[in-house]
Amino acid sequence: MTLDRKLEWDWFPGTVPDNVLVHDTAYVETTYSFLLFRSAAPEAIRLGRGSSIYLGVMFDLGPDARVHVGDFTLMNGSRIICDSHVTIGDYCLISWNTVLMDTYRAPVSPAARQVLLKEAVRHSPRRVEATEPARPIVIGTGVWIGFDSCVLPGITVGDGAIVGARSVVTQDVPPYAIAAGNPAQIIRQLDPDESRRATTRAIEQFKSSKS
Ligand SMILES: CC(C)(COP(=O)(O)OP(=O)(O)OC[C@H]1O[C@@H](n2cnc3c(N)ncnc32)[C@H](O)[C@@H]1OP(=O)(O)O)[C@@H](O)C(=O)NCCC(=O)NCCS
Repeated sequence: MTLDRKLEWDWFPGTVPDNVLVHDTAYVETTYSFLLFRSAAPEAIRLGRGSSIYLGVMFDLGPDARVHVGDFTLMNGSRIICDSHVTIGDYCLISWNTVLMDTYRAPVSPAARQVLLKEAVRHSPRRVEATEPARPIVIGTGVWIGFDSCVLPGITVGDGAIVGARSVVTQDVPPYAIAAGNPAQIIRQLDPDESRRATTRAIEQFKSSKS
């Protein structure tokens, strides 16, 4: 990032907002990701060490919203709709077309939506302001969220869990569970000890391939 908060490789003529903290080793493909960013919170977004924010990621943040992306987490084409707080742990893989939303922004009542849509006309760009309270989302360490999935307000996805492609997560996912479908159901439980042993084996293999 340059001193005036531009990205040297950017195709979009934007800047990284002042209250977005980008670790020196994090990668942001384009400032287009901040087109819908409106948060005035201090440290509204923190992008951890070695994290990657690729094309199509959209940070749609309301005035008080905060998002934390953990170390070495990779996001590609995902949308975060946040009015409260979305925390994504370290070593997560968040695939394309995923939506993490801590707010629906629109009321269930058709009459109330009508008021909201009329009000939207008074803004430029036209937007629907949240009327419903937001509920934070927490994504643990080492989570993989498959493509086209949606995580709804108030959900926690536990460490090491996997969300299958095209799932709608309506309930918390326990650590090391694989959840899939609409609504997402647990299809399998991973063994955390085996996962840790596999990590150790992978690190050892990597080291020996380098020596
Ligand atoms: C979730 C996932 C990892 C499960 O893989 P798996 O453990 O090998 O699971 P299986 O293929 O053995 O399927 C187990 C059961 O779950 C079902 N299932 C698997 N994935 C599902 C999904 N995404 N939605 C609904 N059901 C699913 C299978 O139909 C099967 O059901 P059955 O027992 O009734 O036959 C994989 O299906 C998936 O969705 N991967 C995400 C891929 C992705 O998004 N890649 C993007 C690049 S980062």
